[in-house]
Amino acid sequence: MITAPLWLIPGTIGVEFSENCNMNCVFCLRRGCKQVRGVKEMFRYVEPLITPTTKMVLGGREEVLADPRIDEILEEMEKLDIDFFIVSNGAALTERMLERLNSMRLCHLNVSVNSFDRMVHKGLSGGSELYPLVMENIERIARMNRRFTWSVSTVVTSMNVGELGEFVEAAVKLGVDGIRLLHLYRTEGDGRDWLDPGDYCKDLEKVRWELQGSGVWLRAFYPVAWSPECVAPWTQFWVTAGGDVYGCCWQVKALGNMDKQTAAEVWMGKGCAAERSRMRMGIPGDCTRCGEFQAEESKI
Ligand SMILES: C[S@@+](CC[C@H](N)C(=O)[O-])C[C@H]1O[C@@H](n2cnc3c(N)ncnc32)[C@H](O)[C@@H]1O
Ligand code: SF4
Repeated sequence: MITAPLWLIPGTIGVEFSENCNMNCVFCLRRGCKQVRGVKEMFRYVEPLITPTTKMVLGGREEVLADPRIDEILEEMEKLDIDFFIVSNGAALTERMLERLNSMRLCHLNVSVNSFDRMVHKGLSGGSELYPLVMENIERIARMNRRFTWSVSTVVTSMNVGELGEFVEAAVKLGVDGIRLLHLYRTEGDGRDWLDPGDYCKDLEKVRWELQGSGVWLRAFYPVAWSPECVAPWTQFWVTAGGDVYGCCWQVKALGNMDKQTAAEVWMGKGCAAERSRMRMGIPGDCTRCGEFQAEESKI
């Protein structure tokens, strides 16, 4: 049952079920939460905010498809019968998994490939040997009669900024619908300076140019701190495995907590209200990148 006023319902709801993963990417900023709550508990928590037009995002700082409870997660998703979006590193996209997802209301599947070069992929994924499996699965998506939008993404770092052209070329050849370029997000003093791609705006313009007329869309995160155009706290609700609620997956300071408040209380509570009024006044939120992401997305 919807308990919040309709005008305040978030359009997108994200749920992180854990922080477990089958890779260990050098840039990944997991919060180090060891907690795992029940799948049903997570779904029941956000349910009061769900309407038939809500879009759900399954997983955040984790590899949700490698979660041993993925069948239960998908069963709950099926019951809700709303559109959903998954970001995956691609290793668990087996034939069975793809068929299952294709029979559901998956509207968008993004595979975070990061590089089509085996050695660069290994370096970025923390030494993972899963590259051949990821490529096999990606080729399977390319061949299948899919009902969902399919994109590939890369986090642009010093290790792969030089191969953006090749990345785009390989993605177009595979027949993706879109490409997402994510600029590297770091927290202050986290020692990831060596990964910084520097100013890659010129490369980005080249990519844009190369994609002209290809029919493939591009969504790019620019390396800027924050944009006053960000609408996340008005449109998104993001609950993590640790129980904290954010306006999006990249926020640093929680706006509420599921152990202390219901979802509707958080959404209409002081934390969200303060964040919205701060942003309305042009004061950056407690985040550093998604504002520009929103702005870019809204142009497409
Ligand atoms: C945290 S991951 C979780 C989903 C899945 N395990 C994956 O990697 O696709 C969500 C997205 O954020 C990206 N990402 C992770 N760490 C990042 C960072 N430090 N800066 C920018 N993007 C990052 C990933 O590449 C992925 O596309
Ligand atoms: S695959 Fe995703 S969740 Fe796993 S380490 Fe890489 S970015 Fe993080």
